Amino acid sequence: MEILDYDIVIIGSGIAGMSAAIHASKSSKKGTKIAILSKLHAMRSHSVAAEGGISGVLYPGQNDDSYDLHAFDTVKGSDYLADQDAVELLVKNAPKEIRFFEHIGVPWTREENGDILFRAFGGMSVKRTAFAADKTGFFMMRALYDYLIGTEGIKVFHEYYITELLLDKTRVAGLYGFDMSTGERILFRTKACIIATGGYARVFGFTTTSYSSTGDGIALAYRAGLPLKDMEFIQFHPTALAPSGILITEAARGEGGYLRNSKGERFMKDYAKSKMELAPRDIVSRAIITEINKGNGLVQKGSEMAYVDLDLRHLGKEKLDFRLPMIREITIKSIGLDPAEEPIPVRPAAHFTMGGIHTDINGRIMQNGLREHMHGLFAAGECACVSVHGSNRLGSNSLSQCAVWGRLVGMEAAKIASSSNHVPLTKLKEMGYDADECLNKFIGKDGEYSPYHIRDKLQNVMEEHMYVFRTQKGMKQALKEIKNLKKEACNMRIEDKGRLFNTNLRDALEIRNLIDLSEVATSGAIKRKESRGAHSVVEHKERNDKEWMKHTIAVISRQGPKFEYIPVKITKWKPQPRMY
Ligand code: FUM
Repeated sequence: MEILDYDIVIIGSGIAGMSAAIHASKSSKKGTKIAILSKLHAMRSHSVAAEGGISGVLYPGQNDDSYDLHAFDTVKGSDYLADQDAVELLVKNAPKEIRFFEHIGVPWTREENGDILFRAFGGMSVKRTAFAADKTGFFMMRALYDYLIGTEGIKVFHEYYITELLLDKTRVAGLYGFDMSTGERILFRTKACIIATGGYARVFGFTTTSYSSTGDGIALAYRAGLPLKDMEFIQFHPTALAPSGILITEAARGEGGYLRNSKGERFMKDYAKSKMELAPRDIVSRAIITEINKGNGLVQKGSEMAYVDLDLRHLGKEKLDFRLPMIREITIKSIGLDPAEEPIPVRPAAHFTMGGIHTDINGRIMQNGLREHMHGLFAAGECACVSVHGSNRLGSNSLSQCAVWGRLVGMEAAKIASSSNHVPLTKLKEMGYDADECLNKFIGKDGEYSPYHIRDKLQNVMEEHMYVFRTQKGMKQALKEIKNLKKEACNMRIEDKGRLFNTNLRDALEIRNLIDLSEVATSGAIKRKESRGAHSVVEHKERNDKEWMKHTIAVISRQGPKFEYIPVKITKWKPQPRMY
């Protein structure tokens, strides 16, 4: 087994992970060794798929915009579950990040006079989303990657899969995993570690996210005994292309697109009169499913998937080609439909997971005890629950979150690395040995069940019972089935016994993660007896601040997740009814 020593190890190479590496390097002394471990080629991380833009008040005072207004919109959008101190930190730092990305080469779409242009996004009171056409994530990733490969001291390990987070009591010791290309086992010893591995929306089959969004880092932390927060809150993006689930950016509505039911009506007037199509995502998704349930949906020939229309025809070809070129290209290439001439069939798909690893405002991962943080262990981006999004994220706030906390944890990790030593090698080797044994047993499995059948069953269960509307009965049924799948997963069959590029093994490990995270999300959802943001329960229609204005904390136990609750931090904005 190869043993590699680093000062800082970052798992995940999306916008949060790469930002963390760059800022850690900038604030470290010369000679500091930083590793990025990515299960894919770094440039294939899911951030690359972000389309619509990044939020931030670049010109406070202009357009009646202010940091407070951005914060208020975010808190209201979160259905008052966001921690308001974290939201204030987000909005104050987001503009700096937009400028940073400008300096490293993102070609922001601009006004005639050269100013950065902003577009409207759901739940935002004014236009404050900067964008690079409809490929914002791609351009941000490319700029980060170009910058990073020229930065001394950072090494990117492409296609390395991490299976174990090694902790020495309350501090990070290292990571254990394997090089996909050779199957060789690697033990990384580190003084500080940042988890930036993205979300777990792949617990659903109909999703806008990549196949890789399997919540690996969240599951690593969970199995290492660390607490997860608010896992029941899963966002459904209202406009995923039917039937594939490809994201049709919210910017399509931000640029003026309409949603229409089978009668041609702009039905959002019945659900969010003042915001119409630009209400927050939880509200628009519920509206679409309600219309479909009322019989006002459309159905594609040869598919049972009901949908509504996203009508962009009135925007015209020229605007579509300037502001939404990729959307036009996607619909033409994938379903032979030109949005300049026909409406796009869309329905809500799993898009983002608000829950994640429980961190404090500085991105430090908390210990079991909930009040103390781990030493040298951080999380940033979608895998972290700080929490800035509460029970429902506003579109375009995630790229700002990734950039703001990427920088912050990078700088914090640099401080820790400069003042700590590695855990002694003898101790670490013992930990790595156990992990190696575990992996060997896993590969050797000649079990009964195909991982892929387990994954399909899991995704069907989640689609059926944990989608836009949930019922107590349905969620309980889901949990029962997830527990059965968990048993089946202990008896999985890994057909490929080889070492080189064993994607069968990687898939099985990812599926095990999806099962654990589905169990936590569903168990937490059953317990939360209210409707808030993306968690909409038919039997408990109202938000219940008296009993449920609190974060859910889940910790692993032999019997499944154990729960406790911690208060929401309120600074300026008292909870109010949420009207749009
Ligand atoms: O619709 C979109 O472009 C997605 C943006 C986001 O999730 O922030």
